Amino acid sequence: VTAPDLTGRHVVVSAGGTREPLDPVRFLGNRSSGKQGYALARTAAARGARVTLVAANTALPDPAGVDVVPVGTAAELREAVLGAAADADAVVMAAAVADFRPAAYATGKIKKRDDQEPEPIVLVRNPDILAEISGDRVRPGQVIVGFAAETDDVLANGRAKLKRKGCDLLVVNEVGERKTFGSEENEAVVLGADGSETPVAHGPKEALAETVWDLVAERLG
Ligand code: PMT
Repeated sequence: VTAPDLTGRHVVVSAGGTREPLDPVRFLGNRSSGKQGYALARTAAARGARVTLVAANTALPDPAGVDVVPVGTAAELREAVLGAAADADAVVMAAAVADFRPAAYATGKIKKRDDQEPEPIVLVRNPDILAEISGDRVRPGQVIVGFAAETDDVLANGRAKLKRKGCDLLVVNEVGERKTFGSEENEAVVLGADGSETPVAHGPKEALAETVWDLVAERLG
Protein backbone atom coordinates (compact mmCIF):
# COMPACT_ATOMS: atom_id res chain seq x y z
CA VAL A 1 0.00 0.00 0.00
CA THR A 2 1.38 3.40 -1.02
CA ALA A 3 1.54 6.13 1.63
CA PRO A 4 -0.48 9.17 0.52
CA ASP A 5 2.51 11.43 1.32
CA LEU A 6 1.89 13.74 -1.67
CA THR A 7 -1.70 14.56 -0.72
CA GLY A 8 -2.42 18.26 -1.20
CA ARG A 9 0.63 18.69 -3.45
CA HIS A 10 0.58 19.71 -7.12
CA VAL A 11 3.34 18.12 -9.20
CA VAL A 12 4.25 18.65 -12.85
CA VAL A 13 5.88 15.88 -14.88
CA SER A 14 7.12 16.14 -18.46
CA ALA A 15 7.34 12.99 -20.59
CA GLY A 16 8.12 11.90 -24.13
CA GLY A 17 10.28 13.47 -26.80
CA THR A 18 9.87 16.79 -28.58
CA ARG A 19 9.68 16.98 -32.37
CA GLU A 20 11.14 19.98 -34.16
CA PRO A 21 9.55 20.37 -37.60
CA LEU A 22 11.56 20.88 -40.80
CA ASP A 23 8.59 20.96 -43.15
CA PRO A 24 4.95 19.72 -43.00
CA VAL A 25 6.06 16.06 -43.15
CA ARG A 26 9.47 15.87 -41.41
CA PHE A 27 10.90 16.58 -37.98
CA LEU A 28 14.00 16.15 -35.80
CA GLY A 29 13.07 13.90 -32.88
CA ASN A 30 14.40 11.36 -30.41
CA ARG A 31 13.64 7.87 -29.13
CA SER A 32 11.74 8.70 -25.91
CA SER A 33 8.49 6.75 -25.54
CA GLY A 34 7.27 8.63 -22.47
CA LYS A 35 7.16 5.48 -20.30
CA GLN A 36 9.44 6.85 -17.56
CA GLY A 37 7.45 10.09 -17.32
CA TYR A 38 4.11 8.25 -17.29
CA ALA A 39 5.42 5.99 -14.49
CA LEU A 40 6.27 9.15 -12.52
CA ALA A 41 2.79 10.57 -13.15
CA ARG A 42 0.99 7.33 -12.15
CA THR A 43 3.00 6.84 -8.95
CA ALA A 44 2.58 10.51 -7.89
CA ALA A 45 -1.20 10.23 -8.39
CA ALA A 46 -1.23 6.99 -6.35
CA ARG A 47 0.57 8.88 -3.55
CA GLY A 48 -2.18 11.52 -3.49
CA ALA A 49 -0.75 14.32 -5.65
CA ARG A 50 -2.62 16.41 -8.18
CA VAL A 51 -0.60 15.69 -11.32
CA THR A 52 -0.13 17.70 -14.52
CA LEU A 53 1.54 15.53 -17.17
CA VAL A 54 3.00 17.47 -20.10
CA ALA A 55 3.27 14.78 -22.76
CA ALA A 56 5.35 15.26 -25.92
CA ASN A 57 4.40 12.95 -28.79
CA THR A 58 3.55 9.90 -26.71
CA ALA A 59 1.27 7.00 -27.67
CA LEU A 60 0.37 5.80 -24.16
CA PRO A 61 -3.04 5.73 -22.42
CA ASP A 62 -3.78 8.74 -20.18
CA PRO A 63 -3.11 7.72 -16.55
CA ALA A 64 -6.31 7.78 -14.47
CA GLY A 65 -6.89 10.98 -12.53
CA VAL A 66 -3.98 12.83 -14.20
CA ASP A 67 -4.35 16.09 -16.13
CA VAL A 68 -2.59 15.41 -19.48
CA VAL A 69 -1.40 18.34 -21.63
CA PRO A 70 -0.26 17.13 -25.09
CA VAL A 71 2.55 19.11 -26.77
CA GLY A 72 4.72 18.76 -29.87
CA THR A 73 7.77 21.03 -29.92
CA ALA A 74 10.21 22.16 -27.22
CA ALA A 75 8.64 25.65 -27.38
CA GLU A 76 5.17 24.17 -26.69
CA LEU A 77 6.56 22.01 -23.89
CA ARG A 78 8.20 25.10 -22.35
CA GLU A 79 4.91 27.08 -22.41
CA ALA A 80 2.99 24.18 -20.81
CA VAL A 81 5.62 23.49 -18.12
CA LEU A 82 6.08 27.17 -17.18
CA GLY A 83 2.30 27.62 -16.99
CA ALA A 84 1.73 24.58 -14.77
CA ALA A 85 4.87 25.19 -12.65
CA ALA A 86 3.51 28.52 -11.35
CA ASP A 87 1.58 26.77 -8.57
CA ALA A 88 3.50 23.47 -8.42
CA ASP A 89 5.28 22.03 -5.39
CA ALA A 90 7.55 19.94 -7.61
CA VAL A 91 8.51 19.72 -11.27
CA VAL A 92 10.10 16.58 -12.76
CA MET A 93 11.55 16.91 -16.26
CA ALA A 94 11.63 13.37 -17.66
CA ALA A 95 10.98 14.53 -21.24
CA ALA A 96 13.73 14.34 -23.82
CA VAL A 97 13.77 17.94 -25.04
CA ALA A 98 15.56 18.91 -28.26
CA ASP A 99 18.54 21.18 -27.55
CA PHE A 100 18.35 22.51 -31.13
CA ARG A 101 15.67 23.12 -33.73
CA PRO A 102 15.92 23.79 -37.47
CA ALA A 103 16.53 27.52 -38.08
CA ALA A 104 13.97 27.55 -40.88
CA TYR A 105 10.61 25.85 -41.43
CA ALA A 106 9.64 25.13 -45.04
CA THR A 107 5.89 25.62 -45.45
CA GLY A 108 5.89 23.15 -48.38
CA LYS A 109 7.53 19.70 -48.46
CA ILE A 110 11.27 20.01 -49.17
CA LYS A 111 11.78 18.52 -52.63
CA LYS A 112 14.51 16.14 -53.77
CA ARG A 113 16.09 17.34 -57.01
CA ASP A 114 18.32 14.88 -58.90
CA ASP A 115 20.53 17.70 -60.20
CA GLN A 116 21.18 19.25 -56.74
CA GLU A 117 23.21 18.35 -53.64
CA PRO A 118 21.08 18.24 -50.45
CA GLU A 119 20.93 21.49 -48.50
CA PRO A 120 22.56 21.37 -45.04
CA ILE A 121 20.16 21.73 -42.12
CA VAL A 122 21.01 24.81 -40.03
CA LEU A 123 20.11 24.52 -36.33
CA VAL A 124 19.49 27.12 -33.62
CA ARG A 125 19.50 26.58 -29.86
CA ASN A 126 16.29 25.93 -27.92
CA PRO A 127 15.82 27.50 -24.48
CA ASP A 128 16.89 25.23 -21.59
CA ILE A 129 13.63 24.81 -19.67
CA LEU A 130 15.15 22.95 -16.69
CA ALA A 131 17.85 25.60 -16.18
CA GLU A 132 15.22 28.33 -16.53
CA ILE A 133 12.81 26.95 -13.89
CA SER A 134 15.72 26.06 -11.57
CA GLY A 135 17.34 29.51 -11.79
CA ASP A 136 14.14 31.49 -11.45
CA ARG A 137 12.11 29.70 -8.73
CA VAL A 138 8.52 30.87 -8.91
CA ARG A 139 7.64 29.31 -5.54
CA PRO A 140 9.80 29.12 -2.44
CA GLY A 141 10.51 25.51 -1.50
CA GLN A 142 9.64 24.18 -4.93
CA VAL A 143 11.59 20.99 -5.69
CA ILE A 144 12.95 20.66 -9.22
CA VAL A 145 14.13 17.36 -10.67
CA GLY A 146 15.93 16.83 -13.97
CA PHE A 147 16.96 13.70 -15.84
CA ALA A 148 20.30 13.22 -17.60
CA ALA A 149 20.33 10.81 -20.54
CA GLU A 150 23.97 9.88 -21.11
CA THR A 151 25.73 7.41 -23.40
CA ASP A 152 29.25 7.67 -21.89
CA ASP A 153 31.02 8.91 -18.74
CA VAL A 154 27.54 8.70 -17.28
CA LEU A 155 28.21 9.81 -13.68
CA ALA A 156 30.85 12.45 -14.48
CA ASN A 157 28.59 14.01 -17.10
CA GLY A 158 25.65 13.79 -14.69
CA ARG A 159 27.52 15.64 -11.93
CA ALA A 160 28.53 18.42 -14.34
CA LYS A 161 24.95 18.63 -15.63
CA LEU A 162 23.53 18.94 -12.09
CA LYS A 163 25.74 22.00 -11.48
CA ARG A 164 24.97 23.53 -14.88
CA LYS A 165 21.20 23.11 -14.61
CA GLY A 166 20.87 24.17 -10.94
CA CYS A 167 18.11 21.66 -10.09
CA ASP A 168 17.72 19.95 -6.68
CA LEU A 169 17.90 16.38 -7.96
CA LEU A 170 19.20 14.88 -11.20
CA VAL A 171 18.33 11.32 -12.25
CA VAL A 172 21.27 10.03 -14.27
CA ASN A 173 20.44 7.15 -16.61
CA GLU A 174 22.35 5.51 -19.43
CA VAL A 175 20.69 5.44 -22.85
CA GLY A 176 21.39 3.83 -26.21
CA GLU A 177 19.48 2.89 -29.35
CA ARG A 178 17.83 0.05 -27.45
CA LYS A 179 18.75 0.97 -23.86
CA THR A 180 16.18 2.69 -21.60
CA PHE A 181 14.27 4.32 -24.46
CA GLY A 182 10.97 2.49 -24.89
CA SER A 183 11.79 -0.27 -22.40
CA GLU A 184 9.80 -1.15 -19.26
CA GLU A 185 12.92 -0.97 -17.08
CA ASN A 186 15.53 1.53 -16.05
CA GLU A 187 18.44 1.88 -13.64
CA ALA A 188 19.89 5.14 -12.40
CA VAL A 189 21.74 7.14 -9.81
CA VAL A 190 19.85 10.10 -8.37
CA LEU A 191 22.29 12.93 -7.59
CA GLY A 192 21.31 15.60 -5.05
CA ALA A 193 22.51 19.21 -5.06
CA ASP A 194 23.35 18.47 -1.40
CA GLY A 195 25.95 15.90 -2.56
CA SER A 196 23.75 12.84 -1.95
CA GLU A 197 23.87 9.87 -4.35
CA THR A 198 21.01 7.36 -4.42
CA PRO A 199 21.55 4.34 -6.68
CA VAL A 200 18.44 2.64 -8.06
CA ALA A 201 18.97 -0.96 -9.22
CA HIS A 202 17.73 -2.24 -12.59
CA GLY A 203 13.96 -2.70 -12.33
CA PRO A 204 10.57 -1.38 -13.47
CA LYS A 205 10.37 2.33 -14.32
CA GLU A 206 7.78 2.58 -11.48
CA ALA A 207 10.47 1.61 -8.93
CA LEU A 208 12.72 4.47 -10.04
CA ALA A 209 9.68 6.77 -9.98
CA GLU A 210 8.90 5.81 -6.36
CA THR A 211 12.50 6.60 -5.31
CA VAL A 212 12.27 10.00 -7.04
CA TRP A 213 9.04 10.80 -5.13
CA ASP A 214 10.63 9.58 -1.84
CA LEU A 215 13.47 12.07 -2.36
CA VAL A 216 11.05 14.85 -3.42
CA ALA A 217 8.77 14.20 -0.39
CA GLU A 218 11.80 14.39 1.97
CA ARG A 219 12.73 17.78 0.51
CA LEU A 220 9.16 19.12 0.64
CA GLY A 221 9.12 18.26 4.35
O1 PMT B 1 10.56 7.96 -22.38
P1 PMT B 1 11.26 6.62 -22.16
O2 PMT B 1 11.28 5.79 -23.42
O3 PMT B 1 10.69 5.90 -20.97
O4 PMT B 1 12.82 6.95 -21.84
C1 PMT B 1 13.13 7.65 -20.67
C2 PMT B 1 14.20 8.74 -20.88
C3 PMT B 1 15.53 8.10 -21.28
C4 PMT B 1 13.74 9.72 -21.97
C5 PMT B 1 14.31 9.49 -19.52
O5 PMT B 1 14.64 8.59 -18.50
C6 PMT B 1 15.34 10.63 -19.59
O6 PMT B 1 16.55 10.45 -19.39
N1 PMT B 1 14.86 11.88 -19.89
C7 PMT B 1 15.69 13.05 -20.10
C8 PMT B 1 16.19 13.06 -21.53
C9 PMT B 1 17.02 14.29 -21.84
O7 PMT B 1 16.60 15.15 -22.57
O8 PMT B 1 18.15 14.35 -21.20
P2 PMT B 1 19.25 15.53 -21.39
O9 PMT B 1 20.43 15.02 -20.65
O10 PMT B 1 19.40 15.86 -22.84
O11 PMT B 1 18.62 16.77 -20.67
C10 PMT B 1 18.82 17.04 -19.30
C11 PMT B 1 17.58 17.61 -18.65
O12 PMT B 1 17.30 18.92 -19.15
C12 PMT B 1 16.30 16.81 -18.82
O13 PMT B 1 15.60 16.85 -17.60
C13 PMT B 1 15.55 17.57 -19.92
O14 PMT B 1 14.14 17.43 -19.77
C14 PMT B 1 15.99 19.00 -19.67
N2 PMT B 1 16.06 19.86 -20.87
C15 PMT B 1 16.86 19.54 -21.92
C16 PMT B 1 16.96 20.39 -23.00
C17 PMT B 1 16.20 21.58 -23.01
N3 PMT B 1 16.24 22.43 -24.03
N4 PMT B 1 15.40 21.88 -21.97
C18 PMT B 1 15.32 21.04 -20.90
O15 PMT B 1 14.61 21.34 -19.93
